[in-house]
Amino acid sequence: MSEFVPFPAAPARPLAGRVIVLTGAHGELGQAAALACARAGARLVLLGRKVPKLNRVYDAVKALGPEPALYPIDLAGADPSDYETLADTVERELGGLHGILHTAADFAGLTPLENTPPEQFARQWQVNLTARWFLTQACLPALRRAGDSAVVFVVDAPERVGGAYWGAYGLAQQANQGLMRMLHEETAASSVRVAALQPGPMRGALRARAFVDEAALRVPAAAAYAAACVSLLSPEGRVHRGTVHAPSPASE
Ligand SMILES: NC(=O)c1ccc[n+]([C@@H]2O[C@H](COP(=O)([O-])OP(=O)(O)OC[C@H]3O[C@@H](n4cnc5c(N)ncnc54)[C@H](OP(=O)(O)O)[C@@H]3O)[C@@H](O)[C@H]2O)c1
Repeated sequence: MSEFVPFPAAPARPLAGRVIVLTGAHGELGQAAALACARAGARLVLLGRKVPKLNRVYDAVKALGPEPALYPIDLAGADPSDYETLADTVERELGGLHGILHTAADFAGLTPLENTPPEQFARQWQVNLTARWFLTQACLPALRRAGDSAVVFVVDAPERVGGAYWGAYGLAQQANQGLMRMLHEETAASSVRVAALQPGPMRGALRARAFVDEAALRVPAAAAYAAACVSLLSPEGRVHRGTVHAPSPASE
């Protein structure tokens, strides 16, 4: 008698049919998350300020999943009406909006507060906190209409970046956690799930600005946290609702 050999299970596509707005799409974590979300079936809206780099992510994403949309935008200069236009355009053109993954971040390097040019402080606060909120606020009506949806703020560890020389980047990381908790409380009865993802150190330009002499290969690549991005954006992310999820890096 021949043995029954089951068919291999189809790869899980927990984001199939979902439209996800991704900021920082050509950053280290942004790119890794884009590829993982595309493999998971998401239609991505790739936000970034450098079009040639966005185009490269577009090509890589298109080879793995649904064709993404490009949305060049400078988060330091955009205002609330720009985000309203974005939310309206995404919902109208792509048929809905089911998630936002905030990975964009501006960090210029370790500097004493006293020596930080005011325009640098203001830009970092804008990109790392205010723009995240303005984008989220503009998208909330569409996220509510989508049924199950998720807002994920990627944050850095406050105990690592809350001390001397981390400036507005460090302050904004603490504020992001407060924003996430406040918004979670205000949306807890709705279909919009709010959470934060706190990855460990990841190699790349942002990390290198603070730890210049570090042996980069000892630090995990951003890809080690890509699966956590997918998980938080998908229905299984409900277990982390209202919390800061700090997973261990997945093996590369
Ligand atoms: N790296 C770490 O060790 C680490 C650890 C814990 C948490 N995190 C968090 O993880 C997230 C991703 O970090 P990462 O290492 O992937 O950083 P990254 O490689 O520097 O990526 C950040 C992205 O944000 C974009 N960005 C900056 N300013 C912008 C602006 N004004 N408008 C639009 N986009 C802008 C950057 O674009 P440009 O290339 O044009 O500057 C870049 O694509 C951040 O939220 C960070 O706080 C990082």
